[in-house]
Amino acid sequence: KLYHEPYRPQAHFSPKTMWTNDPNGMVYYKGTYHLFFQHYPKATVWGPMHWGHAVSKDLIHWKQMPIALYPDKLGYIFSGSVVVDENNTSGFGTKGKPAMVAIFTHHDPKGEKSGSSVFQNQSIAYSLDEGATWTKYAANPVLKNPGIKDFRDPKVFWYAAGNKWVMSLATKDRITFYSSPNLKDWKKESDFGQMLGAHGGVWECPDLFPLKLNGKEYWVLLVSINPGGPNGGSATQYFVGHFDGSKFIPSSNQTKWIDFGPDNYAGVTWGNTGNRKVFLGWMGNWFYANDVPTLKWRNAMTIPRELSLKLTAGDIWLTSTPVEELDKIVTKTIKVDAELLAKNNNIFSVIKQTPTQYTLKFNTKAVKDYSVMLSNDAGEALVVGYDAKNSRYYIDRTKAGQNKFSKQFMPKAYAPRLSTSLTSDFELVVDVSSIELFADGGLSNLTGVFFPKKPYNRLSIINNGMEIEHLQIQPLKSIW
Ligand code: FRU
Repeated sequence: KLYHEPYRPQAHFSPKTMWTNDPNGMVYYKGTYHLFFQHYPKATVWGPMHWGHAVSKDLIHWKQMPIALYPDKLGYIFSGSVVVDENNTSGFGTKGKPAMVAIFTHHDPKGEKSGSSVFQNQSIAYSLDEGATWTKYAANPVLKNPGIKDFRDPKVFWYAAGNKWVMSLATKDRITFYSSPNLKDWKKESDFGQMLGAHGGVWECPDLFPLKLNGKEYWVLLVSINPGGPNGGSATQYFVGHFDGSKFIPSSNQTKWIDFGPDNYAGVTWGNTGNRKVFLGWMGNWFYANDVPTLKWRNAMTIPRELSLKLTAGDIWLTSTPVEELDKIVTKTIKVDAELLAKNNNIFSVIKQTPTQYTLKFNTKAVKDYSVMLSNDAGEALVVGYDAKNSRYYIDRTKAGQNKFSKQFMPKAYAPRLSTSLTSDFELVVDVSSIELFADGGLSNLTGVFFPKKPYNRLSIINNGMEIEHLQIQPLKSIW
């Protein structure tokens, strides 16, 4: 049955059929969350890119819509964003009826083959029916390539203080900011990052937005990088700093990662959500995303995550945790008795259902190793835990299921513990073929996919005598 095939996530968005990578055009408009996505509707591997489209009222239940953007003579439709042009700066709408405008990269495969360096250009398209149908602008592209091979993934927002649109664009080893009065004419403002952050691969999919901490405004810049992630392959780093409408100035030189796991890439945030910032990433890694053993579709998105800032050890960090809307699909809450937890060294429970959300709180006064293991009758097991000696969290997929499909599948991934708190919070979202660990309120995160022969139906916690203050198990309903 569609959406119930082997490995099909039950709490995460994945395309009905065929391939997806990056989330695109995320915007909230008239009560609907739009999620466009890199899509190849003819195969389960990457190919000529289209924009698929899905909509949701609650960030959890998704309905797939017809394809929004098809490749054309200017090329494939690569990643980008969507804005609502409330003031009709583009002239595509009318005062009372604003247009949704998509800003995306046209990637010309012929130009690429011929050795040209100007085969990626920025174009726009608009919709007057809330994203159902799209018209490409006749004078595309609107931002021409100045001679930089990697010139893509425009993320645009309205910068009210300067009465202009601001675009963040990935330009090889840096982010270039542009501005525009009308989404059609773009002017370069500045470059950021060639000497900062991680540079093990090309920079992609930026996002720039403000967030408040104790009433003070900061700007966060997300930058995906591939390869060069902390555990190999693709990953997303971020910078916290200030933006004046022209330049981004980071407030620290520390390289930071929104998620250290192997499978959270190209994530950005929804536009038009006010002070709330919700992030979603592609649950894949370019090292092996084309090879994972699914049949009718390939790859899914992460759980939408609420972003906040947090002051820890003298620096400002970005935290991400599952959006509270996830509670909508909680079927029941099983609170494991505190006394039982105190007595037991190995807690064991039978899980009848996947997906499930687990919330645990360890008392870290006596710092020891601890772990959570999910296993099945086929002898497979997935482990997430804390390695006290190296003060880091980990995810171990060594015995978690099929992993021979790619030599580049990395079985282990680590995330340093950043928190200095005496308790450690573990929030886990486990789906049929993915796990997301949010440790310490989302400061140290690890996301990974896995492919077991049978669903995991057992949970054990090895706490080595460490006190577990709290353990809660919440089976989730399928969204399909
Ligand atoms: C990131 C990325 C983007 C590009 C898209 C192509 O995963 O490489 O830079 O626009 O995928 O599908």
